[in-house]
Amino acid sequence: MINIAAIEYYLPKNILTNEDIANEFPEWNAEKITAKIGVESRHVADASQTALDLAYEACEKLFRTYDKSKIDFILFCTQSPDYFLPTTACILQDRLDLPKNIGALDFNLGCSGFVYGLTLAKGLISIGLAKNILLVTSDTYTKFLDKNDKSNRSIFGDGAAVTIVEKDDSKADFQYVVGTDGAGYNNLIVENGGARNASEKPVLYMKGPKIFTFAIENIPALMNDTLEKNKLRLEDIDLFVFHQASSYMLNYLKNLCNIPDEKFFLDMKDIGNTVSASIPIALKLALDQGKIKEGFKVMVAGFGVGYSWGAGILEF
Ligand SMILES: CC(C)(COP(=O)(O)OP(=O)(O)OC[C@H]1O[C@@H](n2cnc3c(N)ncnc32)[C@H](O)[C@@H]1OP(=O)(O)O)[C@@H](O)C(=O)NCCC(=O)NCCS
Repeated sequence: MINIAAIEYYLPKNILTNEDIANEFPEWNAEKITAKIGVESRHVADASQTALDLAYEACEKLFRTYDKSKIDFILFCTQSPDYFLPTTACILQDRLDLPKNIGALDFNLGCSGFVYGLTLAKGLISIGLAKNILLVTSDTYTKFLDKNDKSNRSIFGDGAAVTIVEKDDSKADFQYVVGTDGAGYNNLIVENGGARNASEKPVLYMKGPKIFTFAIENIPALMNDTLEKNKLRLEDIDLFVFHQASSYMLNYLKNLCNIPDEKFFLDMKDIGNTVSASIPIALKLALDQGKIKEGFKVMVAGFGVGYSWGAGILEF
């Protein structure tokens, strides 16, 4: 039904290391951060660099090997858009000099955004509106972080991934599972800057332990529901690529879900948690490292802010 034809990503040049954080917060040290969240360094956008700019750079890399004239729809997932309006996807269409007879829209999701993007792409392909979709997942959460917030500055990094989702009838028609629980909305939130609290500076606030509890209570069922819906067993999946939230959370989930080490992809050491870009970046790393081979079935699962979650299976 759908095929991932190409993935590229772009990370901003500025790097914030654990040593930099430990220098600012002497009560922490670099090793403690690595041990807890599995991140040694993360990339931070310049003051002038936005999610659109990062996405544009990723597209430039993509178009070295992919013919951009094939693109017939842009889906742009971000929670740090350049403007309230217009949508970032419209500006990207123009900046990339793509034809005017294509569709383009933004959608606002965080860590579940890539999986939701796949479901939207599949829907657009199913109704015959598109065949080659540019799915952009790009965020600059660091712009929302308070400089004194050492925990979130350790976890989050900026980045953009661009994925071509194309119609391919040789691939299996795997089904997706999604979920929503807005009761958890204020456990990961940027309260200010929107219409409700317009005058204050936007600052990100996360209750890490609440997000952790949400994930461990919901993600094992998400995995099992996705397997069941596709009439597969855990053994049938060749690799699990979950949202790269923090190694603390992912290792806990891996054990809870009984996923063997060799089938569980975790590589966020030099990248951090890049929100909706984390799964496609991880897929690209896994492909480049030879951990995804032709014919592999890969389960992707995203979960977080909202609360929002989703999972599906990709055939490579
Ligand atoms: C954020 C998170 C790492 C905090 O861990 P926790 O054990 O739940 O948090 P606590 O506040 O009880 O802190 C426990 C210890 O971890 C340390 N810690 C907390 N955040 C840390 C971080 N980002 N890096 C390093 N150490 C951290 C605390 O300092 C504390 O250390 P101490 O015992 O020496 O005082 C954890 O809750 C988590 O991974 N949550 C999921 C958050 C996430 O991935 N969000 C992304 C959006 S999906």
